[in-house]
Amino acid sequence: MFYGFSLCFLHFYARVFTVNMEIIPNFAVFEGGDGSGTTTQLSLLSERLKKAGKPCFFPTFEPTNGQIGKIIRAALTKSAPITPQTLAFLFSADRNEHIYGQDGILEHINRDELVVSDRYIMSSLVYQGIECGDELPASLNSRFPAPGTLIFLDLEPETALERMKNRESLEIYEYLDFQIKVREKYKSLLETYADCGVRVETVDASQTVEEVADKVWSIIRQMPIFKAQ
Ligand code: TMP
Repeated sequence: MFYGFSLCFLHFYARVFTVNMEIIPNFAVFEGGDGSGTTTQLSLLSERLKKAGKPCFFPTFEPTNGQIGKIIRAALTKSAPITPQTLAFLFSADRNEHIYGQDGILEHINRDELVVSDRYIMSSLVYQGIECGDELPASLNSRFPAPGTLIFLDLEPETALERMKNRESLEIYEYLDFQIKVREKYKSLLETYADCGVRVETVDASQTVEEVADKVWSIIRQMPIFKAQ
């Protein structure tokens, strides 16, 4: 039995849905504003887990490298202009493949692996919520299972943008006004999310990369899969 259920979680999504929502205990996600270090931390965690030898581990990310993810990447890098609403649909379509498709999240969970994703539903609720209003991303994502653990890498937007200043080009959401809204929205949504059975951990991402990685490791180590080892 892989899933727990949370009614409350659904209320969080849209207050209009009335069915149960699944929570996958051995599924963790990194969330945070751009430049907060989610990708770096997933890669450090992967190294640590590889060294540890077990449990079997599936590191993954959104937008994915699939066909829909590629269209999203083109929109993010401004090479294919797409309306915010269409982008909201594309993120949820990409996620549907990511969860249910071949070599997807559920396939790995059903093989008793630990799955950790760089971004998931909360990114849509925050980013598309700012762009399109809360209702569209909430309804598009309401049927997807929730992660058992969510690690929010919290960083001042000014510091995050400073870290990104040497990048050759910035994506559509990578500017200060938007990132200020992103941080505020994460904070307000995560409070409710934590009440609904998802373990939400906020990590101060202004610490050194190694300090953040140690904190992440201590959180991941408390996931149920480690108790079963
Ligand atoms: P990345 O730069 O962390 O790889 O993420 C890509 C960008 O896409 C980042 O700005 C966050 C954004 N994003 C959304 O707007 N909605 C989503 O559902 C996801 C997964 C990412």
